[in-house]
Amino acid sequence: MKHLLSAQDLTRESAIGLLDTALEFSAVAARSVPKLPTLRGVTMVNLFFEDSTRTRLSFEAAAKRLSADVMTFQAHGSSVSKGESLKDTAQTVEAMGADIIVVRHGMEGAARELAHSGWVNTPVINAGDGVGAHPTQALLDAATLRNHLMPEPRGSGLEGLSISIVGDIMHSRVARSNVFLLNTLGASVTVVGPDTLMPPEAAGWPCENLRDLDEAIAGNPDAIMMLRVQKERIDPEQLGGMDRYSARYGLTEARANALPQHTIVMHPGPMNREVEIASVVADSSRSVILDQVKNGVSVRMAALYEVWGDHS
Ligand code: CP
Repeated sequence: MKHLLSAQDLTRESAIGLLDTALEFSAVAARSVPKLPTLRGVTMVNLFFEDSTRTRLSFEAAAKRLSADVMTFQAHGSSVSKGESLKDTAQTVEAMGADIIVVRHGMEGAARELAHSGWVNTPVINAGDGVGAHPTQALLDAATLRNHLMPEPRGSGLEGLSISIVGDIMHSRVARSNVFLLNTLGASVTVVGPDTLMPPEAAGWPCENLRDLDEAIAGNPDAIMMLRVQKERIDPEQLGGMDRYSARYGLTEARANALPQHTIVMHPGPMNREVEIASVVADSSRSVILDQVKNGVSVRMAALYEVWGDHS
């Protein structure tokens, strides 16, 4: 795998390979010195044109656990404010010694363009491009689902599992990447949300489409993944107001109690507490939200290991 750009580029075999590698790496975190020499002498650059907490920090942690050197670029405070382009920024960091570039950008397709334009010769990992893709998020979600719900995670897909993804599907690269990856791994996926937050192309995705959250809950999903309402991209009037949205699509305590006991609650973060998810549910024993964060580090170690291994 020269680059990691989209969950749709992953075959079942390559996805399971990445998840198994991540499982091996997760054991490193438990050591007194959680470090391997695997990427010693390699420099990973985080090229972040959009804000991030989890993805940026976990790529940093992943690279450091593999003994790579890390440089972080954030558009805010950089020469992007003077009009510098993605191409010039990427070539600048490559000239400073970048061996692997991890990019987050607001424009859909930016990571693929960087990988295939010939601007740089490094492997590129997509850390989120507009509403396009967020493949490492989907992989860490799959890792979390395997660990919690599959009797023997190593080597397994997600056959037999049903997963509901709820909320702002329209603006979510997490939803897009998860629908395709979870389907590739054998799970049944349902997307749930109001018409105003459901992109027309969802009708052609390999998943069921629902408008009613209570109907999805009555289907006894094994996992329910709540999505952040991307308030910065939505006029609340479109939703009839946030209170109305929460009443129809929020995972309240009553709705969580209607789920089967084994059902896990997921959220990619950052959360709007009391909008798409009640605090009491986010902090409950069935919530695996912090496990998702923890699995993000080992999945990103696996992604760095794979792209570097195929490049060098
Ligand atoms: N889930 C996710 O991508 O979070 P950040 O925006 O904090 O990286």
